[in-house]
Amino acid sequence: MGEPVSKLVCVFLCAFTIVVVPTLITAQGSGSAEEEYWRIRAEEAWNHTLKAYEANPHTVIGAFNKQASDAVKEFLSEKNSTRRELRGKKWGGGCLATNPIDRCWRCQPNWADNRKRLADCVVGFGRGTTGGKNGAFYVVTDSSDDSILAPKPGTLRHAVIQKEPLWIIFERDMVIRLTQELIMQGDKTIDGRGVSVHIAYGAGITIQFVKNVIIHGLHIHDIHQGSGGLVRDSVDHFGIRTMSDGDGISIFGSSNVWIDHVSMWKCYDGLIDAVEASTAITISNSHFTDHNEVMLFGASDSQSKDAVMQITVAFNHFGKRLIQRMPRCRWGFIHVVNNDYTHWEMYAIGGSQHPIIISQGNRFIAPPDIFKKEVTKRDYAEEARWKEWTWRSEGDLFMNGAFFVQSGDPDFTKKHPEIFDGIAPADSSEVTWITRFAGALMCRPGSPC
Ligand SMILES: *[C@@H]1O[C@H](CO)[C@@H](O)[C@H](O)[C@H]1NC(C)=O
Ligand SMILES: *[C@@H]1O[C@H](CO)[C@@H](O)[C@H](O)[C@H]1NC(C)=O
Repeated sequence: MGEPVSKLVCVFLCAFTIVVVPTLITAQGSGSAEEEYWRIRAEEAWNHTLKAYEANPHTVIGAFNKQASDAVKEFLSEKNSTRRELRGKKWGGGCLATNPIDRCWRCQPNWADNRKRLADCVVGFGRGTTGGKNGAFYVVTDSSDDSILAPKPGTLRHAVIQKEPLWIIFERDMVIRLTQELIMQGDKTIDGRGVSVHIAYGAGITIQFVKNVIIHGLHIHDIHQGSGGLVRDSVDHFGIRTMSDGDGISIFGSSNVWIDHVSMWKCYDGLIDAVEASTAITISNSHFTDHNEVMLFGASDSQSKDAVMQITVAFNHFGKRLIQRMPRCRWGFIHVVNNDYTHWEMYAIGGSQHPIIISQGNRFIAPPDIFKKEVTKRDYAEEARWKEWTWRSEGDLFMNGAFFVQSGDPDFTKKHPEIFDGIAPADSSEVTWITRFAGALMCRPGSPC
């Protein structure tokens, strides 16, 4: 990405000296100034949340399903026509994109010269997310994270605290051990394509009271709690933080977030949590392993604001040594579609406080244990209550004895033909193909990814 980028870094360096130094002297204000700062941040974020919220989520589901189904049809016909060449070989150098997100960019040999195209590829509830599309590139050249209050230019932390939109890429393979949680500003893309980037052995990523973030192509694992203390969250503000939870990615009061092609395992708390009225989120093409509580959507039964939560979980592979919460939902509207569930030790999809869960075209393979065949789990409600919750399964494939206990209006399907009639997502029998490239991809510039 050569020249414009190095200029940009230089500009930041200069700006940094001017902006940050005075802040260091003045910003350790009273507790009430700190409270006021976050109150305003929360209010701004809430305004964005209301804009991002879809009054008619069923149309989003219908649009998603059509795209997913078209993509797999195209893929199948291509596969058919190239079958002879491929006989006896593994899918190797060729590009094999089986879902609408991947088909949008992965097969382009020049993807690395056209990185921002990715922002046009998101589907599902996260579909207005553009990340840093309207900004400059920022190349992370330095894997260190030594200075939390005055991050060094060239580090990931320096990139994410900038206020303007940025498309953040990495100069080379690196392992970034975050000393404290990485608190992001909005309008950012973190794009790990073309190199191998691990966020590991330290704190996780925090997306708090911001909008418009894309996280793509990272390995996030072995995340611990951050100790807390003074942490800079933007070029003009830092403040005291309590210990971070130890989530891989924590989405807190934020909207328009797209997480795609990440590989995640072994975080202290959740792999991905979305809480405090976060919405317009898509989690796609990701690969999860080795973890207990995988995804939490809504942290409290009393937080009724979480009713605005609208999340698409699609094309992911829930893999080895996962235990529960894939996801665990409260209040919101969750579309779980075309995922491959090959392992769980307790259950796959759970919740409390009457979330709407539409499960379509997934494959669920139950564990051997005869008592763990149920995909679903309800908490804190008598059957008479949870019977009312809308949890529907359509076109899911159940193997090894797996079963999904549905609830809610049995006529739900009839009332929402846009979700169910004719436009099913891709068929569950294709899910192994669809999720075959889940997780961070190994791509090199100059050839299809
Ligand atoms: C949020 O929106 C309300 C209503 O439009 C407006 O009055 C308020 O100033 C906005 N708050 C912020 C912090 O932008
Ligand atoms: C694949 O090829 C077979 C035989 O040529 C044909 O019958 C079938 O419809 C094709 N399938 C697709 C999805 O194109």
